[in-house]
Amino acid sequence: MSSIAVIGTGYVGLTTAVCLAELGHQVIGVDIDQAKVQRLRRGEPTIYEPGLDELLAQVLKAGRLAFTGDYGECIPEADFVFIAVGTPPGRRGEADLVFVKQAAKGIAGAMKKTVTIVNKSTVPIGTGNIVARIVGENLRDEIPFHVVSNPEFLREGSAIHDFMHPDRLVFGSHHTPAAQAVAALYSKLDTKILITDLHTAEMIKYASNAFLATRISFINEMARICERVDADVKVVSEGMGMDRRIGPLFLDAGIGYGGSCFPKDVKALARMAETMGYHPELLDAVMEINLDQRTLVVEKLREVLGGLRGQVIGLLGLSYKPNTDDVREAPSIDVIENLLQKGADVRAYDPKAMPVLQNQLNSIRYCRDAYDVANGADALLVVTEWEEFRQLDLDRLKGLMRRPVIVDGRNIFDPKTMRDRGFVYRGVGRS
Ligand SMILES: NC(=O)c1ccc[n+]([C@@H]2O[C@H](COP(=O)([O-])OP(=O)(O)OC[C@H]3O[C@@H](n4cnc5c(N)ncnc54)[C@H](O)[C@@H]3O)[C@@H](O)[C@H]2O)c1
Repeated sequence: MSSIAVIGTGYVGLTTAVCLAELGHQVIGVDIDQAKVQRLRRGEPTIYEPGLDELLAQVLKAGRLAFTGDYGECIPEADFVFIAVGTPPGRRGEADLVFVKQAAKGIAGAMKKTVTIVNKSTVPIGTGNIVARIVGENLRDEIPFHVVSNPEFLREGSAIHDFMHPDRLVFGSHHTPAAQAVAALYSKLDTKILITDLHTAEMIKYASNAFLATRISFINEMARICERVDADVKVVSEGMGMDRRIGPLFLDAGIGYGGSCFPKDVKALARMAETMGYHPELLDAVMEINLDQRTLVVEKLREVLGGLRGQVIGLLGLSYKPNTDDVREAPSIDVIENLLQKGADVRAYDPKAMPVLQNQLNSIRYCRDAYDVANGADALLVVTEWEEFRQLDLDRLKGLMRRPVIVDGRNIFDPKTMRDRGFVYRGVGRS
């Protein structure tokens, strides 16, 4: 059992803290957001994540997890300090390291003994060296320490499961024994371990996200071609996915990727490459195709309805993907702005994300459920593939709508079934 501090208790930090406690370690989560700390101390999860409530309650009750707003309460005792703070996009799309640098300073100011600093935030290549420099410059006494990169690959919506059942764990450091010591914290997990140097570990995270984003933009480009040649992209991706060299995942055509990772990470990697004198043509195309998908669904609505001014458009889903309340860089936000700009009357329903979006966007009507959205609507647009939307009573939905138009931005419905049920239906890349 090791004593661990986790800095930042957002999606990654809170999941890491709870799961490391579940693995038997003594963990303290630290956050500068005092309100968050208070809520977490009471056992109230600050994000929606399946299974989090129960596990949080369990490890708090077992006394293996605590929360604080004060670095001085946890760093002096810690053997390992995980950095899991945000790395949001800066003005030109580069990763903004302000929180990482603050965390490094905070750690140095509170350190009393040797510690291994583990960076879980997604950071530009070489950030581990920056952390080491800042810690070194701000230490009061000469205390030895090491920095290890341990990038996180969990997905929101299945974060606990992904943390406990990773495909692989990556540890990179200039000091291999430090990387091995961090790997040992996860020894209860049955998975592949890759120990590498610091830069390579940091690059693995960016390269992985950029590749997944590329698959999505690739299939969206195929969808555009499918629409022109009368082929069905859903079956195309099924056929492609049967090839073991390709595999079936991340081949769903639709409104494109969003969220707090893919958009910012692809952009940050591209900007980083540019500062190193390399023009990343493929990454630029991936981003451009992705943003265009958001416009294309609005164009489909405009085309079917013959214009958008005064039309009542209902959005099904707001979060960037199902099973999360996260709306960061969600396609729904661009779509709403575009629809409002074109004079549409927009309303929406999302099972989890409405309270979050209501805080930043109050120019639309938020509805009780999908049927409330459909009531009097000229068209529905499926933005997020929540399971409950697949289960809707289609006859009831159609009966409530002014015009039975559905643009399915996630291809959750079967085009033939929808047309047989009397809907004017448009998917993405479906014949
Ligand atoms: N969200 C994901 O699905 C995911 C997956 C893999 C990797 N990542 C990466 O992990 C990192 C964290 O992402 P997130 O989604 O958890 O972010 P988040 O915004 O949800 O959480 C960050 C937390 O850090 C806190 N914080 C900021 N500065 C602090 C400081 N100096 N000291 C203590 N706390 C501080 C904030 O108050 C916040 O609670 C990012 O680099 C992200 O790219 C995220």
